[in-house]
This record gives sequence, structure tokens and C-alpha cells, in this order.
Amino acid sequence: WLDRVQLLESVVSTQEEAKRLAENGAPEGTTVIAEEQTGARGRMGRKWFSPRGKGIWMSIVLRPNLPLLQTPQLTLLAGVAVCKAIRRVTGVDAGIKWPNDLLAGGRKICGILLESSLREGELHYCIAGIGISANLTEDDYPDHLKEVATSLRIQRGGVPIDRSELVRAVLNELELHYNLYMEQGFKPIKELWESMSVTLGRQIALNSPQGRSESIVVGLDELGGLILKNSAGEISSVCSGEIELL
Ligand code: BTN
Repeated sequence: WLDRVQLLESVVSTQEEAKRLAENGAPEGTTVIAEEQTGARGRMGRKWFSPRGKGIWMSIVLRPNLPLLQTPQLTLLAGVAVCKAIRRVTGVDAGIKWPNDLLAGGRKICGILLESSLREGELHYCIAGIGISANLTEDDYPDHLKEVATSLRIQRGGVPIDRSELVRAVLNELELHYNLYMEQGFKPIKELWESMSVTLGRQIALNSPQGRSESIVVGLDELGGLILKNSAGEISSVCSGEIELL
């Protein structure tokens, strides 16, 4: 997919750029990378902080032949691939918080947003958006992010990241794990995800429209949802939303 990369200066969101290309028939693996985003999106309607030249802000077009129900598996796949690339290139000990936030030192270093587009009720294409806080320094963060976010550079004691090398590794790992998934299904991805997870076995709080509830994470289900056990011993599954590690 490396030969399908487009580098842009400033965009509102690489998600929108990649979507436009996908609508015009761009092949799988088409990737848009921007130096800066002025209106980047995060999960659950949040904004994503994307200062110029400091991070890796990228979106990739995927055209999987999958039932809609299985797209959460792709989300986990992206988390596994990016986590591997980060560990290999930067040496930072990143872990995955369900579904696909990457944490280091207990703080977020990378967010992933998988958006699906439908045609006639079926999956048409997906856009995998990846935001890696590579070279931000403490001073770059606005106050409300200081406690919850960090960068690879900060985690390396100030040693900057070679962004091109990391981009190459991310695309390489993504393509590799995507092919593995298409050939062998979710099982190998699930095992890798479990081995990189900082969520399994943890006490968590789940914030859902029904309110806040605390439980222990006991596993990952076949669709990529989280299996939870509450204090009464009841088991439930959650397929989307936001958890808080306690
Ligand atoms: C999250 O953790 O909430 C997901 C953040 C995803 C951010 C990336 S940066 C590249 C792409 N463009 C966007 O507007 N969002 C994603």
C-alpha cells in the first residue's frame, strides 16, 4: 500500500479526503496523510487534536468483502497492526485498550476511527483513520489533554520519532494483518489482540445510554466485543462504547 500514499499539507480531516477518493473508485490501500488537520474527528463525536508536523494523521481505504456485523473485527485488527509497528520502530511498550486505543505509560498515544460506508444495505468500503501522537511535547497539549494523553516522544524521554519510518511500518503491518484476516479469519487476530491488550482481566467502568456500570473483563467474543462479568457474577457482552480502566 506504500505506493498508494498521498501526502497533503493541511486538510479538515483525512477521513473526508479518503472518503472522497473511495467514492471515486480508489483501490484498497489508498492512503491519505496530512501534516495538519483543522477539524479532525475522534470516536463518539469527539474532536481529535492534530497539530501541524507533530503527529501521524492518516486514513486508509479498505474494501473488505464482509458482513456488516464483522466490521468491529477490523477495528481490532487496526489496533494490533499499529501497536506492532509502534513497538518495533520506537521501542515504546504500547498496549491496546478496548476497542482500539493505544496506551503507553497509562495514557493515550494513538486513536483509531473505523468508519463504514454502505451501499444498498451492504458494506461498500471502510476508512481506517489512525492518529498517532508521535512528536508532541508536554507544551503542545492543551490543559484538558495533559492528564490523559501522551506522545511517543515523551515516552522515549524526549527522543524524536522518525515519522516516515513509522508510517512505512504501520502500512506494512496493516497490509500483513489484513491479508492474514482475509485468509484465516478473526482467530489469529483475536489471539494477537489478547496478547497486546491492557484490558483483559481488568476492573472497568462502562458508560452506556443505560448509565454507568462496573465489571471485570473476562474475554473477547467472536465478533470483537468485550465479555464482562459484574459483581453479581452475571456475564454480558458489549460491542461498542467507551470503557474506563479502574
Ligand atoms: C479516537 O480515539 O477517538 C479516534 C481518533 C482518530 C483520529 C484520526 S487522525 C486521522 C483521521 N482523521 C480524522 O479526522 N480522524 C482520524
